[in-house]
Amino acid sequence: MCGIIGFTGDCPAAPLLLEGLERLEYRGYDSAGVALLHRGRFLVSKTTERIGDLKAKTDKGRALKGSIGIGHTRWATHGGPSAENAHPHLSEDGRFAVVHNGIIENYADLKAELQRHGIEFSSETDTEVVPNLIAYYYKGNFLDAVLRAVGRLSGSYSLGILCCDYPDTLIAVRHFSPLIVGLGSESNFLASDVTALISHTKRVAYLEDGELAVLNPNHVEFYSSEGRPIHKESSFVNWDLAAAEKGGYNHFMMKEIMEQPRAVRETVEPRIKNGRVVFEDIGLDEERLKTFNKIAIVACGSAYHAGMVGKYVIEELLRLPVEIDLASEFRYRNPIIDHKTLVIVISQSGETADTLAALREAKARGAHILSIVNVVGSSIAKASHSLLYTWAGPEIAVATTKGYTTQVALLYLFAIWAADILSTAPKAQLEEMLEGLCRIPEAIEACLEERGRIKDMARRSCYIGSIFFIGRNIDYAVALEASLKLKEISYIHSEAYAAGELKHGTISLIEHGTTVIALAGFKPLADKLISNIKEVKARGAFVVACATEGNQEISNESDEVIYLPPVHPLLFPLVEVIPFQLYAYYVAVCKDCDVDKPRNLAKSVTVE
Ligand code: M6R
Repeated sequence: MCGIIGFTGDCPAAPLLLEGLERLEYRGYDSAGVALLHRGRFLVSKTTERIGDLKAKTDKGRALKGSIGIGHTRWATHGGPSAENAHPHLSEDGRFAVVHNGIIENYADLKAELQRHGIEFSSETDTEVVPNLIAYYYKGNFLDAVLRAVGRLSGSYSLGILCCDYPDTLIAVRHFSPLIVGLGSESNFLASDVTALISHTKRVAYLEDGELAVLNPNHVEFYSSEGRPIHKESSFVNWDLAAAEKGGYNHFMMKEIMEQPRAVRETVEPRIKNGRVVFEDIGLDEERLKTFNKIAIVACGSAYHAGMVGKYVIEELLRLPVEIDLASEFRYRNPIIDHKTLVIVISQSGETADTLAALREAKARGAHILSIVNVVGSSIAKASHSLLYTWAGPEIAVATTKGYTTQVALLYLFAIWAADILSTAPKAQLEEMLEGLCRIPEAIEACLEERGRIKDMARRSCYIGSIFFIGRNIDYAVALEASLKLKEISYIHSEAYAAGELKHGTISLIEHGTTVIALAGFKPLADKLISNIKEVKARGAFVVACATEGNQEISNESDEVIYLPPVHPLLFPLVEVIPFQLYAYYVAVCKDCDVDKPRNLAKSVTVE
C-alpha cells in the first residue's frame, strides 16, 4: 500500500514527483504529500485529498523549488487520514525528511525510547520514528546514520530519505516492501513501481530486501544492509507509457477489461509449441513433478478465486489432492506440507504481504514454490523456485480484471502441461482443452461485444440493496469473483454461495424481489443448479442466469438469461466472469462511485 517516489537531478523536482504520484495513486489515496529540499530547507506540501489537490495547491509543482525531493501517496494504517499523518515526515530537528511504505512493527518501543530522549512527535504514524531515529544517530554522515537507524527497525519498509546537509543526495532503503531505482541521465529516481517513472527512464535496478541505494544526479551506489558496497545489474522495462495510461477510456478498469483478449492471448500462445504446452526455464522437471503427493494453492482476494478455479481443474486433470488457502490463514495455521508438496502462489502484484509470508512459510517447510505473478522482478517472483509470469501488462485499477483472467489461463496451462507429463489424463482431452484455450480470446471478445446489454442490466439494478451469486464447482469459483468485483467497486452487499449450500442457512435472506445470479456454465451439474434456482424462485427471488447459448431449460426457469458463446466446458470460467466484471463496472459508474479507486482499498496490499 502507499506509493513512494524520489528524485534527484538537474531540473525542478516537484512536477516530476507529482506526475509520479498520480501514477502511484492506485496504491493508496487517502492523503499525499511532497518535500523538496531547497537551499538547505525542506519545502513541504500535503493534502488530505487526492494528488489533483496537491497539484492545484502547488501550481502543478511550480510553486515548490528544488531539484531533489520525495513524495508519498498514503493508505492509512497508523492514524487516520490527516495532514499530520500524511507523509513526508520530518525529524523534530527538521534535518531529515522521510517517505515510507510498509509498517514499522516496533515503532511504539522506538517512539517511547526517543521520547525519553526528549523528542516530541506530531503524528500518530509509525513512520515518524524513522526520521527521528536517523537524526538521533546522525553525527555528520548521512549513510551511517541511516544504516544505524534501519538496523533498529523491524517490520516492512521501503524508505526514501533526504538530509538537509546533503543537497543532492537521496537514500533509498528496501526491506520487505517494493522499491526500484530508476536510472536516468543526470537524474535518478526511486519509486514503489515502474509506472511512476516509465515516462522518464526505462532502465531500472530492483533493490533486494535489506539493500540501500544512495542516489545523486550523476551516480547511484548500492549497499548491503551492513553498509558494504555491492554491484547491481540494471534491466530495461519492456513496456511503454501507453500501457500505463487510460488510452481513451474513462477508467483504467474498463481499459483493462477490454484488454483481456490480448492479455490472455499473450499469456497463452507463446507457451504452446507443436500442440503442447512448453514452459521454458520453469525450473520444474518431470522427475521433480513426479515427487509431489499434493498441491497447495495460496493467494488473497481475486488471486485466491483464480486459484479456486485452478483447484477444480488440477484435481480433474492430475488426480492429485489440491488444497487451497487464503494466504492470511495459511501462514498461521501450521499447514501440513513438506518437500513432497508443490505450493502454487498466485499474485498479480507479487508484493501482497500475506501471500509473500505464506510463500516463506511454505519454503521453510521444504515445499517447492511455483508462483504465478504479473509484476516482473517483484518480491514473490524473486522468492520462488519456479515462476510463470502472466503477461497481462501493468494493471492499474484496484479491481483486478485482466490480472485474474490471465492467472486462470496460466493455471489451465499448468494443469494441461503437468497432466501431459504425468500422463494423468487422456491425450485427446488435453489436446481438446488446449485448442479450446487458444480460442478463448475470441470468446472473450464476443462477451465484450455484448456490453451494451450488460450496461442496461446494470442501470436497472444499480440501487438494489443486496445480491446473491450462486454456482457449483467451477461456477462457484466464478461466483466468488463476480461477487467480490461487485461489492468492491459498487458497495452493493453481495454474497457468493455454493448453490447447494444456500439452503443451510443463507436462503433465509431470500425474499420477494431479491436478485440471485445463477451461474450455470458447468454442464455436469446443470440439473442440480436448476433445482437450486427453483428453490430461490419459490421464495420470490428474481433470477438472472448465465449459461451457454441455446440452453433453453435455464431460460424457462429464470427471469433473465445472459448467454455466452460455447467454449470447452472446463474453460467456461474464462468467459463467464466477463459479464460480471462489466456489470460491476457499469453499476459503479451508474452510482457515481470512484471505479478505479474504491473507498478504503489499495491495489497492492503490502501490510498484514
Ligand atoms: O496483487 P495480488 O494479486 O496478490 O492481490 C490480491 C488481492 O489483494 C487482490 O486480488 C484484490 O482482491 C483485488 N482488489 C480484487 O479486485
